[in-house]
Amino acid sequence: MILLKEKEMKRFSILFAIVLLITALGAWAAADVPDSVKTLLQKRCAVCHKGKFPPKGLNFEPANVAAVIDRSSSEVPELKIIDSKAPEASYILKKVRRESGIKGKPMPPGKALTAEELQIVETWVAGLK
Ligand code: HEC
Repeated sequence: MILLKEKEMKRFSILFAIVLLITALGAWAAADVPDSVKTLLQKRCAVCHKGKFPPKGLNFEPANVAAVIDRSSSEVPELKIIDSKAPEASYILKKVRRESGIKGKPMPPGKALTAEELQIVETWVAGLK
């Protein structure tokens, strides 16, 4: 009887350890922003979205990009800037695609992203799910 309980306990802790590992790996993968994305955001967005007081508190410097995932937009609070559960609803896409219905200006405010740059952002956001 006692032996069986010990065996069960062991089995349970192994299972628990596996679940923990998978959770940790998942979080790590989500935070792993591709270099192409970091480089692009650095070049086209972090000109303004940088430092301690970036526009709308949104910092796109390479070390900060992962922290933006699943953060609510301050302009349209019902949307997330980058929505990992519903990528297509991400506010960042509406801003860089220069859609009507956004608040404030399209991003970046000056010269729009090229088709190639837009695709880098779209592919990354879509792949988060
Ligand atoms: C010339 C400076 C400048 C550049 C470059 C720029 N932004 Fe912005 N961004 C702003 C300002 C100012 C605001 C706030 C006012 C507005 O939205 O017009 C803003 C707001 C935003 C918002 C809304 C934040 C919220 O909480 O709702 C997003 C998203 C955004 N920018 C993404 C980007 C992305 C992505 C890029 C690069 C592709 C970019 N921005 C480039 C200045 C800039």
